[in-house]
Amino acid sequence: MDRAVAVTGAGRGLGLSVVRRHVERGDRIYAYEVNITDDLRGCTREYEKLHICRCDISSTPGVEAAVADMLAKEEQIHFLYNIAGVFRFEDRCGLADTDIDAGMVMMQVNAVGLLRMCKAVIPKLGAGSVVVNVTSESGSIGDCYREVEYMYGMSKAAANMASMLLQNEVKKRGTRVICVHPGWLRTVMGGEGAAASPYSVSPDESAANIVKIAEEIDKLPENVYFIEHTGKPLPW
Ligand SMILES: NC(=O)c1ccc[n+]([C@@H]2O[C@H](COP(=O)([O-])OP(=O)(O)OC[C@H]3O[C@@H](n4cnc5c(N)ncnc54)[C@H](OP(=O)(O)O)[C@@H]3O)[C@@H](O)[C@H]2O)c1
Repeated sequence: MDRAVAVTGAGRGLGLSVVRRHVERGDRIYAYEVNITDDLRGCTREYEKLHICRCDISSTPGVEAAVADMLAKEEQIHFLYNIAGVFRFEDRCGLADTDIDAGMVMMQVNAVGLLRMCKAVIPKLGAGSVVVNVTSESGSIGDCYREVEYMYGMSKAAANMASMLLQNEVKKRGTRVICVHPGWLRTVMGGEGAAASPYSVSPDESAANIVKIAEEIDKLPENVYFIEHTGKPLPW
C-alpha cells in the first residue's frame, strides 16, 4: 500500500497510538506535535517513513510552515487525523465560575486549529481520502446533559460544524469527512478518573477502532458523519 497519513497531536495519547497503527501498516506518516516527545521520536528508530514536525495548530503561519514539506512531497493525503486537543480542568464548573478568556485556548486549538489543518491539506484531498476529526460527545447538542465545561463543549460543537461544512465542500471529489468521539480515554486528558474506571478505554484500543473505521470508510453509510469509536452514530 502506498498511502500518506497526517496526524496532529501525535506526541502522546490517542495521536501517538494512531501513529503506531499506521507505522504497523507501512504508510508514510507526517506526525505533527507542538512538543515532540521521546515516545514519538522512538517510533522513528526503525521506521524511516515517519516524518516528525513541530506544529502549533493555534498558529496559522505555524501550520502553513509545518505542512509545506508534506504538501511538496505528496500528491494526495489519504488520511488526515485531527487529534490535537486541549481540555482545561479548571473549566469543569458552571458559567458563573468559567474563565471565558482563558478558555479561548480550547476554541483556538480544538475548533480553529482543526480548521487550519483542514485548510492546509484541502488541496491534497481526493478520491478515497478520509478526514477523521476527533471531536467529542461533548460537542453533541442532541445528547447534551452537562451543566459544566462550556468552552470545551462549544469548541467541539464548532469542530463538528467545521467538519460538516468541509464534507459538503469535498464530497464531489470523493473525500469523506467524519467526526469521531474516541471514548473516555486513559490519557492525560482523560484524567485520574479514566485510569480507574471500567468505562474508559485505552488509547491503543480506541486508535485501533478509529483507524479501522477510516480504512473501511465505505462500510459507513454516507449519511453518517458523527460516531463513537465503536461505530455507534451520535446526534449532532
Ligand atoms: N481524553 C478523553 O477522554 C477524550 C474524550 C473525548 C474526546 N477527546 C479528544 O480526543 C483527542 C485526543 O485526546 P487525548 O486524551 O489523547 O489528549 P492528550 O493526551 O491530552 O493529548 C493531546 C495532544 O494534543 C496536543 N496539542 C495540544 N495543544 C496543541 C497545539 N496548540 N498544537 C498542536 N498540538 C497540540 C498535545 O501536545 P502537548 O503534549 O505538547 O501539549 C497532545 O499531544 C482530543 O482532541 C480530545 O479533545 C478526548
